[in-house]
Amino acid sequence: MATKKSNTIKLKFDSSRNLAPAPESKSAAKINSRYDLFINGKFEKPSGKKYFDTINPATEEKLSEVAEANEADVNKAVKAARDAYDKVWKKMPAKERAKYIYRIARMVQERAREFSVIETLDGGKPIRESRDFDVPTAANHFFYYAGWADKLEYAFPNRNVEPLGVAGQIIPWNFPLLMAAWKIAPALATGNTVVLKPAETTPLTALKLAEIIEEADLPPGVVNIITGAGATGAAIVNHPDVNKIAFTGSTDVGKIIQRAIANTNKKATLELGGKAANIIFDDAPLDQAVEGVINGIFFNQGHVCCAGSRLYVQESVYKTVLRKLKDRMESLIVGDPMDKNTDIGAINSRSQLEVINKYLKIGQQEGAEMYQTACSIPKKGFFCRPTIFTNVAQSNRIAQEEIFGPVLTIQTFRTDDEVIEKANNTPFGLSAGVWTDKGSKIFNMTTKLRAGVVWANTYNKFDPTSPFGGYKESGYGREGGLHGLNAYVSLV
Ligand code: NAI
Ligand code: MG
Repeated sequence: MATKKSNTIKLKFDSSRNLAPAPESKSAAKINSRYDLFINGKFEKPSGKKYFDTINPATEEKLSEVAEANEADVNKAVKAARDAYDKVWKKMPAKERAKYIYRIARMVQERAREFSVIETLDGGKPIRESRDFDVPTAANHFFYYAGWADKLEYAFPNRNVEPLGVAGQIIPWNFPLLMAAWKIAPALATGNTVVLKPAETTPLTALKLAEIIEEADLPPGVVNIITGAGATGAAIVNHPDVNKIAFTGSTDVGKIIQRAIANTNKKATLELGGKAANIIFDDAPLDQAVEGVINGIFFNQGHVCCAGSRLYVQESVYKTVLRKLKDRMESLIVGDPMDKNTDIGAINSRSQLEVINKYLKIGQQEGAEMYQTACSIPKKGFFCRPTIFTNVAQSNRIAQEEIFGPVLTIQTFRTDDEVIEKANNTPFGLSAGVWTDKGSKIFNMTTKLRAGVVWANTYNKFDPTSPFGGYKESGYGREGGLHGLNAYVSLV
């Protein structure tokens, strides 16, 4: 390179993409060979003495083993949270509480590199996303809610604001650290204490966060982080001394939780699945829209509850959009999540890959036409090529059910009313996207689309100040912003 004159270098953008590897170094992260449960400010062995492995889904290699918390451990964690609530946290002046949350925020920032490497190793998402999105956004959530802690009287003027007590928080595997931040930050800012359970395939960044919380000298028991699978989550949900459940995950488990707490006075927020419509009108800036479609469905391998998984294109621009979309898809790099050039990393687990592959079959059996890019994918690990389906009917399962992978269905429409009806014809209602040059059309769509978040001429934009949450089977309650505080307080 150095010997060539710059004006002789020819840049070639094609699907072969023979870029030199640019791997992030694993040495930035310290992963213990085994993790215990973080209860009452220290790491404790699980009472059942059981551990389970967490692997790197890109290589299928074991990274560590983590403790499986049983009912006795959940009891201990809830008791620690209750004691900390009654004796320390509830009584602490709000400005002192804020200092702890600010400290956690700063420590997450200071260790951003370590967090992003661990997030990518444990969950398979591209390092670029962990580094530029997950970790900074997690830190931002702690900063944002730290700021509210001593200003709750301004958040809820003329009301008496009381914390709820002990919050049981259960999070999924698609944004492990970020979901932990979404849950812990508002709970602490409002004076609640926490028992949090990360997902079984991605527990490591939550356990790193536990180490930070220990180092930050948070009073013991204010945050407890325990690992385990569905049974551990169920024990938290069913514990009589938990006052609030915050859950993000599948609609199926959301329904189980709703049934379990139906005759209790536990409060709940449920962030469940989605099947978002991303709508392109013929007056939209098409290149920008195609970029938004790519981001909407291929960000984080499509493991995104608000993923734009149903594309609706106005008939007159359908051919152009499809051509541009396929061209852009061919330039996506699928492979080693630790490589800084990678666009699409590993599917989070073998079982999730099986779910996705099942839907690829179903789509073809239903008569839709499948197109996958020609890129090569690694032999080991769990990978899926970017996929689109055309010739899709509204009733097809691939257009109705959440696939949670890099799979997009494409349909056409002629009129505004038609696309509103099609977009709303789903059991979900979490998010939607609209691409058009006309402001009036944006307003018309955003008021008529039954979705908690509607993005206009952009997609997947997140900020701690804006509320997020769904309608219908996408759950209820809002996280983020002022609304996110509301979910952790009682107002008298
Ligand atoms: P899941 O809903 O089973 O897992 C989410 C969390 O809930 C995990 O921490 C899990 O241990 C916990 N959990 C499982 N059973 C529980 C129970 N009975 N009580 C309390 N907690 C419980 O999701 P899973 O099985 O990993 O994924 C299945 C499908 O769910 C995916 O294919 C995707 O469609 C959807 N999903 C949606 C997410 C979203 O953010 N909307 C996140 C994760 C999954
Ligand atoms: Mg893992």
